[in-house]
Amino acid sequence: MSTPQEQPFDVDAVMAQLTLEEKVSLASGSDFWHTQGVERLGVPAVMVTDGPHGLRKQAGESDHVGLNDSVPATCFPPAAGLASTWDPDLLRRVGAALGDECRAEQVAVLLGPGVNMKRSPLCGRNFEYFSEDPLLAGELAAALVQGVQSRGVGTSLKHFAANNQETERISVSAEVDERTLREIYLPAFERVVTQAQPWTVMCSYNKVNGVYASQDPWLLTQVLREDWGFEGLVVSDWGAVDERWRGVAAGLDLEMPASGGSGDASIREAIADGHLSTEELDVVVRRNLQLLERALPALAPGQTFDADAHHALAREAAQQSAVLLANDGVLPLDPTTGGRIAVIGEMARSPRYQGAGSSQVSPTRLDDALTALREGTSREVVFAAGYVPEPAEGEGADDALVAEAVGAARGAEVAVLFLGLPASWESEGYDREHLDLPGGQFALLEAVRGVCDRVVVVLSNGSAVAVDGWAHHADALLEGWLLGQAGGAATADLLYGAVSPSGRLAETVPVRIEDTPAYGAFPGDSGVVRYREGLLIGYRWYDTRRAPVSFPFGHGLTYTTFAHTDLAVRATGAGQDARVAVTLTVRNTGDRAGAEVVQVYAAPQDAGVFRPEQELVGFARVDLEPGAAQQVSLTLSARDLGHWSEVHRRWVLEGGRYEVRVGASSRDVRQRAVVDVEGEDLVALLTPRSEAGTWLEHPVAGPDLRSRLGDAAAMLDDAQHGRMMRAIPLVRLTRFPGFPVDEADLPALADAANAAR
Ligand code: BGC
Repeated sequence: MSTPQEQPFDVDAVMAQLTLEEKVSLASGSDFWHTQGVERLGVPAVMVTDGPHGLRKQAGESDHVGLNDSVPATCFPPAAGLASTWDPDLLRRVGAALGDECRAEQVAVLLGPGVNMKRSPLCGRNFEYFSEDPLLAGELAAALVQGVQSRGVGTSLKHFAANNQETERISVSAEVDERTLREIYLPAFERVVTQAQPWTVMCSYNKVNGVYASQDPWLLTQVLREDWGFEGLVVSDWGAVDERWRGVAAGLDLEMPASGGSGDASIREAIADGHLSTEELDVVVRRNLQLLERALPALAPGQTFDADAHHALAREAAQQSAVLLANDGVLPLDPTTGGRIAVIGEMARSPRYQGAGSSQVSPTRLDDALTALREGTSREVVFAAGYVPEPAEGEGADDALVAEAVGAARGAEVAVLFLGLPASWESEGYDREHLDLPGGQFALLEAVRGVCDRVVVVLSNGSAVAVDGWAHHADALLEGWLLGQAGGAATADLLYGAVSPSGRLAETVPVRIEDTPAYGAFPGDSGVVRYREGLLIGYRWYDTRRAPVSFPFGHGLTYTTFAHTDLAVRATGAGQDARVAVTLTVRNTGDRAGAEVVQVYAAPQDAGVFRPEQELVGFARVDLEPGAAQQVSLTLSARDLGHWSEVHRRWVLEGGRYEVRVGASSRDVRQRAVVDVEGEDLVALLTPRSEAGTWLEHPVAGPDLRSRLGDAAAMLDDAQHGRMMRAIPLVRLTRFPGFPVDEADLPALADAANAAR
């Protein structure tokens, strides 16, 4: 059934011949991983499967939580790593490689990427998501989608929407105001849809403001299709359907996996009792056939991929994914001269290279850092495990393992400690309970520090961990995230300086969990999670509140240094056509090659609504040889500088001054310039109930009202009482004894003023 056809697939011809029963059947899968076919008409079933950072095609027993084996595939770094590259070109190449692996396994759609925002560092699935910033997540995910789809293979942008936790993920209602949704939780999806048109979007399990995402017409049709122009198919997350017929009406095209006939029965009954029309069913059936039309050409059997080349690409991606958080000069290590190197920590030998759950890939091979560190040097390398990989919660250090590690570190010139989160602490399906590393690892670090003057810590974790209590023991700190199957070799490349670290944080490293934006409101309870922090996610929160962080968003060191100069900022156009051109020069001022990630933040100075202190509006990764310089140019649009207006129910651009901040992290602003931007005409529509002050500020009604008020205007202008008076709706003022304007005149005055605009 999954053999591609010789003839192009003719959607209209198939539509014309399908019976109602066949149409109903096409609205859900045929098993765990296949769509439904119609043999009589030569409609094949195709395979869709996880994703995102490698292919998880199960040839035997099926499940969607990572229990059973899958065919070997290249395990690239999960999104937490890839996001730290800030490199869309790399993501495009990784995407193309993933597409080729799908072709080799005849997979029509890769289920990813996931662009949910990292609302809390505790979300168990953060390793699979990109960032706390929607621009960064959207740009990178769009590139990945373009890469996969350039190979004739589809993607599934997930999990749409507001799936920012694993606790109660199937049932929780995410209560989020519209501005916060539009500015924070939806834009990464929007960017991928508008820039890359993923073939499919996967709805999330949860409810958004009380409605299951799988049957929310606002989300699946109004926002996704009408506002953004999505042209593909919406698939349910596995088992996310509550009432199938409501999903059809809302725009959910494909229920996955097969639901034992339950979905079909729901559609059949709804059509019979008139709740659903056959035209509505036709819409989703057509989209399923269109997916086939797109997918079939790439599914010819006998295709292969170059596993060595993909492993090399995975190594390059891992090199770029690691973030050098701190370095007092101990790194890079000299591979040819020096004393003994003590490598300590089980994760050096048994790497943590991906997270658990549906994204878990069976790698084609697996590099470990210990072997790579040994192979990369002529120096003596000794190893000690230091800790057990899966300690019980609250379990302290293993004294014998610590003693062995101290023995290895004593007399060594440098100790390289591999610390991180146990595999069972980070998974789809549940959230982390705290920000800390296992307690036993602190004790190990302190003991090793006690006998060795130079200590390097390499971290393996899929989401931020607290470092405040122990980072002072490390002379260098390399945040390795989860680096995929070639992470071990990449780590050695970075530690020995064969490659300069170039990753930058795509998420803030907070000091304490109590400081994080959603603390107290994550993961909610009683079936509800309220996004009380609103727009203030990640650095937006810390920077607006001027709160300390351990390492800020965008931070990352290299083995070289960069100078930023010559910032020039120029505004042109007005309203929705306003643009701000930003140029600057970046120079590599050190003696090694390296990559700088130039980050542009906008800080509105005259906003009439609440805005976060600053927001990322552009970035560029620049690779530079020592001494080389490059000009960087970016153009900011009205949308980049604007906000979602609750009044106008659309994106608007307020006029006024905007500070453009350019630098190397949200806290390392190197250059600033203020630019005057001509905004839109955003005068609110007047009604009799508008405040008197709003009437007075109105360009047409204001002067008119002032002349009608005569001397009475003085009380509204009065230095002490005027403010209080101006806050009173004009209609109420007209009712006060002696007020010189008549209530009956207000509707006509408002209409005239509104019409004149
Ligand atoms: C996950 C999805 C995944 C699907 C299929 C679900 O549990 O949330 O991300 O694509 O299973 O494995």
